[in-house]
Amino acid sequence: METVDYGTFEATVERSNDLEQALKRDPTRFRVLTGDRPTGRLHVGHLFGSLENRVRLQGLGVPIFVVIADYQVLTDRDCADDIAENVRQLVLDYIAAGLDPENGRTFIFPHSHVPELNQLLVPFLTLVTNSELNRNPTVKEEIQASGQQQINAGMYVYPVHQAADILFCKATVVPVGKDQLPHLELTRTIARRFNARFKGQAPVFPEPQPLLSNAPIILGLDGSQKMSKSRKNSIMLSATEDETAKCIKTAKTDMDRLITYDPVNRPEVANLLLLASLCTKREPLDLAAEIKDSGASRLKSLLTESINEYLRPLRQRRQELEKDRGYIRHVIHMGIARARVVAQETLAEVRQAMGMEYETDHNGQQSKERIACANAHLLRWGNKYEWPYFCIALSRPLI
Ligand code: TRP
Repeated sequence: METVDYGTFEATVERSNDLEQALKRDPTRFRVLTGDRPTGRLHVGHLFGSLENRVRLQGLGVPIFVVIADYQVLTDRDCADDIAENVRQLVLDYIAAGLDPENGRTFIFPHSHVPELNQLLVPFLTLVTNSELNRNPTVKEEIQASGQQQINAGMYVYPVHQAADILFCKATVVPVGKDQLPHLELTRTIARRFNARFKGQAPVFPEPQPLLSNAPIILGLDGSQKMSKSRKNSIMLSATEDETAKCIKTAKTDMDRLITYDPVNRPEVANLLLLASLCTKREPLDLAAEIKDSGASRLKSLLTESINEYLRPLRQRRQELEKDRGYIRHVIHMGIARARVVAQETLAEVRQAMGMEYETDHNGQQSKERIACANAHLLRWGNKYEWPYFCIALSRPLI
């Protein structure tokens, strides 16, 4: 068995750039899978780091599955309090930011509700070794950061589950930050090993490629490495304009009144300029030149105005969406329905490749009937949101 090659970063960047061009040329040839752990509301670091990129890909016409990795939340903590509310808030942020679950190409679903996806975990676990899982650098960091005495087995195994998140829909493109690259490399290895071990008429899984984001890393307002809700150094998408102003007032800067853009020597000031630049679409250097020696307070008021203005339409949409509780449930319901149809088909292929079909005739007839039957069970009537979902379930896979 060849070992997992965690690869060189430079080669990945190059491949990712080629992929970006191919996506622009022929978006419908690809399928994107992306996702998050539902640990709370999203902040501007998420918006500029990943959300806007997803919306851009959606705009190109690429089909997108967005997995809400609720099971993954259990890997570094003992309980998942508030999980349902966190999922709801996450979906609100997604839609407010521009993901469009009504377009027939964007599906948002929690993986806990797609049993056929979770079933892929079992054969996938037999395709990797313990030592490969123990070597995963991102998992090692998370174990350090969790501060837990006892590490549960889910922590070591979740990258394999993540492979199921990605492969259940045969995703070909996964937009990622650097920290997720080891997981994607493992996913590619699992796809390759599955295809090699269970040779059917055709390989079951494509090898998904990472699409690295060009987005700059947004630091926390306290000047620490990363904007993160748990460090209380973030500007939340759902904050009011006053809350935003208040939290920018607390941002760390330095003693020099003359504002310059110098990410190496003045990271905190540069980070605020960068945020203002992302909102105003002006160069950080120009903004600095404009503020000159008016100091940090001018910089902060400029940032507050520009962020509040930039987020105003998103926040308005978010407030509107919040009023209609049933709508988010409906979106999740549609996502699950679609994900299940796709996962059932993949699981049927996986079983066929493994020679583990015991209910079918030689043409796989019965399993198709079973899928149709399961789809029919998914149909429930009764509220105004369910009819488009009905249409989706009835139509053959759209993508
Ligand atoms: N591990 C990701 C995170 O911590 C979340 C995630 C779960 C994910 N499954 C995924 C990301 C599949 C991309 C693809 O944010």
